Amino acid sequence: MDLKPSGNLKIDTFSMRIGDIEGVELDRLHALSLSVGWPHRAEDWQFLRESGEGFVALDDIGRVLGSAMWFAHGAGFATVGMVITSPRLQALGAGQWLMNRVFEKVAKRDLRLNATRAARRLYLSLDFQPEKTVYQCQGIARLQTMGKSTNTRGDVRSLDAKDIPAVIALDAAGFGVRRAALIERLFAHSAGYGLFKGDTLNAFALCRPFGRGHVVGPVLAESDADAVAIVRPHVADHTGSFLRIDTHMDNGEFAAFLSHSGMPVFDTVLTMSMGKRLSDFAVDGATAPVTYALASQTLG
Ligand SMILES: CC(C)(COP(=O)(O)OP(=O)(O)OC[C@H]1O[C@@H](n2cnc3c(N)ncnc32)[C@H](O)[C@@H]1OP(=O)(O)O)[C@@H](O)C(=O)NCCC(=O)NCCS
Repeated sequence: MDLKPSGNLKIDTFSMRIGDIEGVELDRLHALSLSVGWPHRAEDWQFLRESGEGFVALDDIGRVLGSAMWFAHGAGFATVGMVITSPRLQALGAGQWLMNRVFEKVAKRDLRLNATRAARRLYLSLDFQPEKTVYQCQGIARLQTMGKSTNTRGDVRSLDAKDIPAVIALDAAGFGVRRAALIERLFAHSAGYGLFKGDTLNAFALCRPFGRGHVVGPVLAESDADAVAIVRPHVADHTGSFLRIDTHMDNGEFAAFLSHSGMPVFDTVLTMSMGKRLSDFAVDGATAPVTYALASQTLG
């Protein structure tokens, strides 16, 4: 007797194993991030792998169904990112499973991450504390002619290798944690502008290829006017092409400059922390530099 095949097939057993992200082909990681609509290129994954560590979730035949990474700085701090589970697996506990494996590796460190809307519930359930909104601003860059700032303190010029120590120090003062190795790696992939008074670096902005075009970040400055002064040349360099910047600033001269430069707010994520809060990292003093743009949502 011939049995008519059913139009439905129910599959309810599934197991995954954890693997080191190092051993995975880049195009498999790329396919994972594409599956959740993220813009990362294979090169962006490569950069992240060189900058941090991570796990993947693999099925029985080695397909990559999840990822989670961490980026340690010094002995006591790390950022967490690239937390992805394949859409078919979501809301089944895989995200929490991956994060618990990450916790085993970053125990006792203060943690910071930028949570998408989809991930907020996961991180809240893991005791991350909400901090600040990040505005993901992007679009086709165009140089605005109006509002050219006059309040900048110094001269803008291109950065070169001899400026790296000053860039690392300024980043550390704003970010709250020294991340020399990461800044050096970013520097090697970026064009940079700095605002100098004499020989002193007062502000800087790096810009590198990422995703659909280029991303500006990190940007460290002491005022909106200074931040605009060092981002403006990147906008000029990329006028007519896709440019992105992730910032905590939602109003003021800097935020207005971004939207007038073709980069309106596209989406938001939420900076969350575990352990020390963002304010605990703040440097005392009115002239402390501020992080005007993140290196990226993943790196902070
Ligand atoms: C965010 C993400 C990693 C969560 O992974 P996951 O495998 O679904 O996570 P889990 O199944 O372990 O779920 C963890 C918690 O979040 C809840 N959750 C998962 N997806 C959710 C969604 N889309 N909306 C609301 N809650 C959701 C789960 O119900 C669970 O809550 P509970 O502990 O109260 O039951 C996954 O949705 C994803 O890859 N999204 C796209 C990429 C992304 O945004 N990554 C986050 C980067 S910060």
